[in-house]
Amino acid sequence: MNGKRILLIVSGGIAAYKALELVRLLNREGASVRAVMTDSAKSFVTPLSLGVLTGDRVFGDMLDATEEQEIGHIQLSRDADLVLVCPATANIMAKAANGIADDLATTLLLATDKRVLFVPAMNVRMWHHSATQRNLATLRADGALVMEPDEGAMACGEWGAGRLPEPPEILARVRQVLAQEAGALPLPGEGRPLAGRRAIVTAGPTHEPIDPVRYIANRSSGRQGFAIAGALAAAGADVTLVAGPVSLSAPPGVRRVDVQTAREMQAAVEAALPADIAVMVAAVADWRAASDAKQKIKKDGTAPASLPLAENPDILAHISTHDRRPALVIGFAAETENVVEHAAAKLARKGCDWIVANDVSGDVMGGSVNRVHIVTSDGVEEWPDLPKEEVARRLAARISETLT
Ligand SMILES: Cc1cc2nc3c(=O)[nH]c(=O)nc-3n(C[C@H](O)[C@H](O)[C@H](O)COP(=O)(O)O)c2cc1C
Repeated sequence: MNGKRILLIVSGGIAAYKALELVRLLNREGASVRAVMTDSAKSFVTPLSLGVLTGDRVFGDMLDATEEQEIGHIQLSRDADLVLVCPATANIMAKAANGIADDLATTLLLATDKRVLFVPAMNVRMWHHSATQRNLATLRADGALVMEPDEGAMACGEWGAGRLPEPPEILARVRQVLAQEAGALPLPGEGRPLAGRRAIVTAGPTHEPIDPVRYIANRSSGRQGFAIAGALAAAGADVTLVAGPVSLSAPPGVRRVDVQTAREMQAAVEAALPADIAVMVAAVADWRAASDAKQKIKKDGTAPASLPLAENPDILAHISTHDRRPALVIGFAAETENVVEHAAAKLARKGCDWIVANDVSGDVMGGSVNRVHIVTSDGVEEWPDLPKEEVARRLAARISETLT
């Protein structure tokens, strides 16, 4: 990121203080940051703090004659390599989606010719509101990038999606976007090491119907799998992402196939063969309801005392023993105890090449950080706590080293 110039727009959300930490991280990687604040943002963090950390004046007033003479607002919007809106309020995204330019921040967003990355943070209901979701879709259709917020406890006491991702995760995304913008790779080495390779990635949970309104599911968010699909695509691979029901948008350059059930996922993986790489990240339900009732099961005395289950296909084992087996088959193991032991046993049992084991006893599912062990026939590698994007980047780098 050395020498890259980031125009950071801070809007008025409770997470604005995290923008300060982000500036430090960006500086540490050699990027320079110029900051713009909305009026509301100044109620959450001071221009003084941001100015000290960026080592530059902080811009905010479009109609300030001095600011305009020293560096015009059009210039400000063009000087950067990337425009980063963090945190992005529901309000600023609504304005940007509709071309409103009533302050310096929104005018810059309209005037810029650079890639814009929004990092939203807001209350869960604001996030899920159809107006916000409509605005996000518009921004994406207009070419902006939008990071998915984290799930978890919110400052307002509620729980759900809308938390600002942790600064290291935002940093990893900025690094990836800058590399993509430069036509380079977010991977060590030169060129696009996986160009000409085909990869299949599965991600997310599966939903196994019990009746027309109920299903068996799990807490997988799909974020790790989506990040891996993105990192493989950035490394040049032709990626098919088979996604269970998740609310994530596909990374750039990835072919997405949406499925609901384990059996649909297996069929989609099968249809995506042949491939050189298979990364089976999805948390596939082990069992499904033995019979999928055509009508809603009533609780008026006819309700079953127990739910008979049938075992789902084992997609990882199936692909590992397939006559068109990819050269490298990687499985994921989500464990809550004896993580490495269970992963080693799974490696032997399934016949895959690596198992990426993660401890999901904390808030890994739905969270932004992952701690993984890479288990292979050569031994076990322990990786530190890393943003999921960074786990993906390192895994893609390791895959390219193995295959090239
Ligand atoms: C204490 C407090 C916290 C807020 N946090 C957020 C937030 O996290 N996200 C958000 O979209 N709006 C939040 N708001 C509402 C925004 O500040 C408000 O919509 C404002 O108009 C945003 O202006 P801006 O987009 O120009 O910065 C908060 C308001 C208050 C009073």
